Amino acid sequence: MPDTQLLTYEPAPGRVPARPRGEAPASIELPLPDMSSGAPLLKALSLRATTREFSTADLPLATLGALLWAADGVNRPATGGRTAPSANAVNEIDLYAVLPNGVYRYDSASHRLVLKHATDARNLTGYQDFVGEAPLDLVYVVNTARLLQMPVQQRDIFSSVAVGAMAQNVALYCASEGLGNVVRGWINHRLLSDSLRLNEDELPILAQTVGALGTKLSSLAD
Ligand SMILES: Cc1cc2nc3c(=O)[nH]c(=O)nc-3n(C[C@H](O)[C@H](O)[C@H](O)COP(=O)(O)O)c2cc1C
Repeated sequence: MPDTQLLTYEPAPGRVPARPRGEAPASIELPLPDMSSGAPLLKALSLRATTREFSTADLPLATLGALLWAADGVNRPATGGRTAPSANAVNEIDLYAVLPNGVYRYDSASHRLVLKHATDARNLTGYQDFVGEAPLDLVYVVNTARLLQMPVQQRDIFSSVAVGAMAQNVALYCASEGLGNVVRGWINHRLLSDSLRLNEDELPILAQTVGALGTKLSSLAD
């Protein structure tokens, strides 16, 4: 049975890359979050949910900084330890922020975004109607070269677990801040690899759309 028959989501028609909106600086310094802000953990857990209706409004830089730090930021500077676990701390997952002005890689150590490609690739990160309209798509990429010391049968499992932890960190941050998010496994790996300009040993395995809650974007165009 083809994958599409297993999914109930309505596909959007095929899209082409969009013209980037605004300047794309080579790097973007991100503010660190106020560690005392946000809802308590159990409150955030009680609010966690998938959303598929987003506002098109850009996310403030402070929100972007806090969200990426929550995903996989350095929370123990003495050791370089991060908010998400990683088997043997090999940190094989690279997190990409696909923004209206460019594709950026999140550099945890310096807490900044590093420009990969000055294009608006949001609409290439998936098939659903909100993709390309919501302000941020995260893409989780396994750098398989970092897994070579790990037994073959554990590589996929461990990297999937690591991505799951990061995506849940983002989901809880969103719940805590009243933002919407949806984890998306329905992605076109080849298209994403091209649009993110990935190497042969880099594999995108999951996307996650984030934005303020909004009305259904497809109905806005009607
Ligand atoms: C690995 C994974 C892949 C998913 N892929 C998609 C997807 O491609 N598109 C989508 O709209 N939702 C996707 N979801 C979200 C699920 O459909 C959603 O979590 C589920 O319906 C339960 O709803 P809830 O998150 O609100 O509890 C995915 C969730 C996971 C964990």
